[in-house]
Amino acid sequence: MEEKKKRVFSAIQPSGTITLGNYLGALKNWKFMQDEFDCIFALADLHTITVRQEPATFRKNIYDAYASLLACGIDPEKSPFFIQSHVTTHAQLAWVLNCYTQFGELSRMTQFKDKSAKHADNVNAGLFTYPALMAADILLYQADMVPVGADQKQHLELSRNIAERFNGIYGNVFKVPEPYIASKGASVKSLQDPTKKMSKSDENLNGCIMLNDSPDIIMKKFKRAVTDSDSKIVYAEGKDGINNLMGIYSTITGKSFEDIEAEFEGKGYGDFKTAVGEAVVEELRPIQERFVKYSADKAYMQECYSKSAEFAQKISQRTLDKAMKKIGFVPHA
Ligand code: TRP
Repeated sequence: MEEKKKRVFSAIQPSGTITLGNYLGALKNWKFMQDEFDCIFALADLHTITVRQEPATFRKNIYDAYASLLACGIDPEKSPFFIQSHVTTHAQLAWVLNCYTQFGELSRMTQFKDKSAKHADNVNAGLFTYPALMAADILLYQADMVPVGADQKQHLELSRNIAERFNGIYGNVFKVPEPYIASKGASVKSLQDPTKKMSKSDENLNGCIMLNDSPDIIMKKFKRAVTDSDSKIVYAEGKDGINNLMGIYSTITGKSFEDIEAEFEGKGYGDFKTAVGEAVVEELRPIQERFVKYSADKAYMQECYSKSAEFAQKISQRTLDKAMKKIGFVPHA
């Protein structure tokens, strides 16, 4: 008998250009997970307005992010890929879950503390209750697993606590999701400060590779990558810059660190940086070509996100209805 595939849910915010860090850390894995699991993906646009957005830029970022994910190999035929604001149940369940989430819990979220420090002029209630919306995203689909990076682990842990609390009161309504830690997939660091995560908000633009950087720019950024005063290409403590480049090279080529050390034995940092840069250029080339194609085909994108939203609405409505009925709301039909 064929075993039922595990359900995976994940989402990414359309908050600007996608980086090499997003791609190697998450999206490349999502692509592979589509065959093994029953995946559902979303663009978390409702989350994005917790930080003020300029309307035209926001709209463009949503289209660009959608096209980028298609270009990275997300296939809506295999895994529905919808836009969060198109599926009404997310905001609805988020309200409900807000009432099962404690002020104290939300106050302990490190991302809230960081973001409220960074956007001190707009510490809005949405920024604070954001984890309840994220819990709704996940729990609506009865997801078994959620691939998340280190920065979202605390939010996933809170989602589990909310689910357990709700189930404790009303019986089994929500599946309690497990974090999914990908076996591959590097945590990509800044090329300029390899102790920090690669981020598009990095002050130094040379630290971050964008998915749509030209080959020229990519090579330049890698050539300027910060390394160390040693000269050996080995993975070792204290060699954050080289370790980061090795992680990137390994994730793209599939080569182990030992293979890479052997390949570059007796060679200099310059040669290695060039090799990593070239590998990245070649990895991104087909993605960039597909991005151009999908971006120009809004009708195709619309077909993908409409169909996906229709599916997501149907599945998630069942969970929302069940949760509301348990609470005691009067069913509308
Ligand atoms: N909060 C996540 C981020 O900023 C995006 C996200 C929203 C998400 N809903 C989710 C991730 C559900 C995993 C599951 O990166």
